[in-house]
Amino acid sequence: MARKTIITGDDSLDDFEEPRRQFPVGVDSFSNVPSDEDALLRPTRMFDMVGQRAVYERIEIAVQAAQKRGEPLGHILFDGPPGLGKTTFATCIPRELGVDFQIANGATMRAPKDIVPYLTNAQENSVLFVDEIHRMQKTVEEFLYPAMEDFRIDVTMGEGVNARTLNIPLKPFTLIGATTRTGLISAPLRDRFQMHEHLEFYSEDELAEIVRRNAAKLHTKLDDDAAYEIASRSRGTPRLANNRLRWVRDYADAKADGVVTSEVARDALKMQGIDENGLDGQDRRYLETIWRVFQGGPVGVEAVAHTMSVAPDSLEDEVEPFLLRSELLVRTPRGRRLTARGLQILGIEVDPIEFGSSGRDDKPSLFNF
Ligand SMILES: Nc1ncnc2c1ncn2[C@@H]1O[C@H](COP(=O)(O)OP(=O)(O)OP(=O)(O)O)[C@@H](O)[C@H]1O
Ligand SMILES: [Mg+2]
Repeated sequence: MARKTIITGDDSLDDFEEPRRQFPVGVDSFSNVPSDEDALLRPTRMFDMVGQRAVYERIEIAVQAAQKRGEPLGHILFDGPPGLGKTTFATCIPRELGVDFQIANGATMRAPKDIVPYLTNAQENSVLFVDEIHRMQKTVEEFLYPAMEDFRIDVTMGEGVNARTLNIPLKPFTLIGATTRTGLISAPLRDRFQMHEHLEFYSEDELAEIVRRNAAKLHTKLDDDAAYEIASRSRGTPRLANNRLRWVRDYADAKADGVVTSEVARDALKMQGIDENGLDGQDRRYLETIWRVFQGGPVGVEAVAHTMSVAPDSLEDEVEPFLLRSELLVRTPRGRRLTARGLQILGIEVDPIEFGSSGRDDKPSLFNF
């Protein structure tokens, strides 16, 4: 049975007569990929990408198969913490395929009419990239199901006895979704993606390679030790490696004749409050708050966020993933809890036996009150 989407109020027939009228300028080209220095450092082709080998190889196979068959690539969902390469993959894939590309953002998809222009403008086998797809409204999500499955949208116009459904065929296309919050994606939407790729933090070697390549792009002299110094302080994240490289370059230009040695890199990053573990002021403040105010936890993330006057979402999306991966913090059924390692980083000495070696579980300990 055809799925019907009722479009009411503002979303009337008028909205569908000339969908191109609403189409944001430049979305059918690469022109709305950010054009600042970030764009200079962002790989434009897949072979320029460093790391994420398992994901890379699976995508490469899917791209080659789609090209051989002359069919659209299956829909792909990328998830993972910010700055690990979701947008980079999403922008490189259409270039590999040699197809058109549009970018949309889930946060602006409040009603089906918001996504209709993107769908009706999608060229044969082209890619539609929806960033922050978890922020799309439920009605838009449901409207997308037949578009993803059968390349068709069903629009119901009018109300009551005058209602009629219009089936609009679409050209076969590929939807690429990106999210930092895979848990917020409903199962029906998730299941409509043929590939679900999770991006992991990068190794120090991979980040050092990114730093070396980007130093060359920025015409900065940097030795190997300095590349590792920056890499080891970048929280496993290429975006941070790039930001730190740019700061180190500025520092070297101002203080060291533009030459980046490991000592220059260390001094520059220390000045920004980044320690030898790559933690910045916000990371340490988070760990310190759990220790000082909540006696090491367990504590709910909202309580910590309110104490720090930051949004719980930004703690969960930007701060916690690396702290969890580094085993400085654990999530227990009763909330966040510092590990012995987390305390060690803060310079706090505790008896590891009494504290519980890594805090993997929520077993009774000094800090479970
Ligand atoms: N595999 C990679 N190789 C080299 N550089 C990379 C790689 N992945 C990401 N980068 C660099 O990191 C920057 C941030 O990556 P990107 O914008 O793709 O992250 P994201 O996962 O989309 O983050 P967000 O969730 O914040 O949107 C890019 O501009 C690029 O310079
Ligand atoms: Mg992105």
